[in-house]
Amino acid sequence: MTSTLILAPLRGITEASFRDIFVRFFPGFDRAVAPFISTFQGSRIKPAKFKELLPENNRRLPVVPQILSKNADHFIATARMLAELGYTEVNWNLGCPYPMVANKMRGSGLLPFPDKIEAFLDKVHQEQPLAISVKTRLGRRDAEEIFALLPVFNRFPLSEVIIHPRTGIQMYEGTVDLDTFARCVELCRHPLVYNGDITSYAAYQRLTERFPLVKNWMIGRGALADPFLAARIKHMALPAEPLQTLAAFHGELLACYQKMLSGPSPVLGRMKGLWFYLAASFADGSKILKKIQKMKKLEPYQEFTGEIFAHGTWQPDQQGETP
Ligand SMILES: Cc1cc2nc3c(=O)[nH]c(=O)nc-3n(C[C@H](O)[C@H](O)[C@H](O)COP(=O)(O)O)c2cc1C
Repeated sequence: MTSTLILAPLRGITEASFRDIFVRFFPGFDRAVAPFISTFQGSRIKPAKFKELLPENNRRLPVVPQILSKNADHFIATARMLAELGYTEVNWNLGCPYPMVANKMRGSGLLPFPDKIEAFLDKVHQEQPLAISVKTRLGRRDAEEIFALLPVFNRFPLSEVIIHPRTGIQMYEGTVDLDTFARCVELCRHPLVYNGDITSYAAYQRLTERFPLVKNWMIGRGALADPFLAARIKHMALPAEPLQTLAAFHGELLACYQKMLSGPSPVLGRMKGLWFYLAASFADGSKILKKIQKMKKLEPYQEFTGEIFAHGTWQPDQQGETP
């Protein structure tokens, strides 16, 4: 069986328009999970978030919407709306590490409370029509929390369990905990997705060797740093001039944000979000990033990025320090 590659949700970056343009230039991903929509302020989705999930804005790459919520009724109302749009599955965010979210017992903030998670899943499974998958970390504070959660997950007909093997308080720091993930592989009865720090083909290969039973792999930051990573993993043909492909992608993305957003600031904000990861694949990446992060106007930005794509040295990570 061949592996499935899933584009990770990266809020503020991998929204619908990004995904649409990205997959036109960079093949290899089979599907995506969308950045979360929050039901925090009630059961209605904001119109802009709703637009993100309209089927016509998601034609090129199948997407599973994601909900961040601790309120089962709000989740159910949102899931019903998603069902009306034609979705058959929804993902529940149990991983968000930010204190603003987690301290309110949402995202990874729910992980120390398996009883609450069980009551939530019990209710939503009875009252809404979609298949449910979860995206989780190993715990909020302690990686051992996952061992109280897996028996709960095992009691429900989840379509998938995505595990990012860090704790919430780790944020994105430190190494992924592969030993604990290995124990999850044995205990989880649902299709399992590994997610975290796949930054190179070599890193992917090491993981597939260690976890031969895992067939689904989610990649986020690694695919922003090296957009050809999914194609590398799938042994697809790569362009002879990768910088030309990157330049064309960058040009379309910039034009799209200029159309979609008002004023240079939000446009540059989005582009800087991408460069935060992409710059690392260029020689002198930290200098490039520093310069871009200071920019406030579009003209010098376009001139500078034009230079990078014309004369820069593209050297994506080949080994991956971790895993
Ligand atoms: C900027 C940013 C935004 C993120 N937004 C979301 C999100 O909306 N939903 C979610 O489940 N995870 C989110 N994540 C976590 C990623 O989906 C992923 O789990 C994490 O980055 C680890 O995978 P990676 O090492 O392949 O990037 C976000 C991460 C980052 C860095």
